[in-house]
Amino acid sequence: MRRPIIAGNWKMHKTVQESIDIGVGLKRKFYTFSEADIVICPPFTALSKVSAVIMDSAIMLGAQDMYWESEGAFTGEISPSMLKDAGCRYVIIGHSERRHIFGETDEAVNKKLKVALKHGMVPIMCIGEKLEERDHGMTFEVLEKQLGRGLKDFAKDEAVRVVIAYEPVWAIGTGRTATPQQAQEAHKFIRDFIERTYDKEAAAKIRIQYGGSVKPGNIAQLMAQEDVDGALVGGASLDVNSFTEIVQNAVL
Ligand code: PGA
Repeated sequence: MRRPIIAGNWKMHKTVQESIDIGVGLKRKFYTFSEADIVICPPFTALSKVSAVIMDSAIMLGAQDMYWESEGAFTGEISPSMLKDAGCRYVIIGHSERRHIFGETDEAVNKKLKVALKHGMVPIMCIGEKLEERDHGMTFEVLEKQLGRGLKDFAKDEAVRVVIAYEPVWAIGTGRTATPQQAQEAHKFIRDFIERTYDKEAAAKIRIQYGGSVKPGNIAQLMAQEDVDGALVGGASLDVNSFTEIVQNAVL
């Protein structure tokens, strides 16, 4: 049985105080919670404060990106050890906004994933097709390329520690969720890719989240799909009540 994982990606939202407030609110709801992994990913500036707030609760901390070097002259970047120092156990890698706004390549994603694992963090690797790619019937081709390049040279025991987030770009922040069937079809393709690349055991183990306009009202149907193991939630994770409902409805 794969353990469900619900993660909130706050993107470039919330001040330190607002982040603390959300952390306090969520801690009240999830002081203990055993049915799923819950991860919140505030902006870098709020990580260490939120870490202190959610300590001893069932909520874990994640970052939204990182660089692959440990330290050095890399102005503006954050290293894996800095994230661990701030209390992060998870890190989102290759989010579509990083790929499409900031030009992040599959090669960079590959390096970041490797380094995250080396530091004992759990990377959430985002993949997904753009609308024109879906319309041209290229969804699987895009996913295959992102998976193949992102997980290049990964041994099986490394690959299974990565959480994959399928996030169709056309569904992110648009209110247009993939149907449960569209999500399942893509997730099945991803799991089959893992089986082809490694084996059945790896495919059965790897966790695949869906992301893109996940809300309290659609999470249950998505989670009901065989290959959907969780969600990466953007907008709806910025509010304590809606994120709480998503987590609760995910494990109904
Ligand atoms: P959304 O974002 O839930 O606001 O669509 C999801 C994401 O980008 O991770």
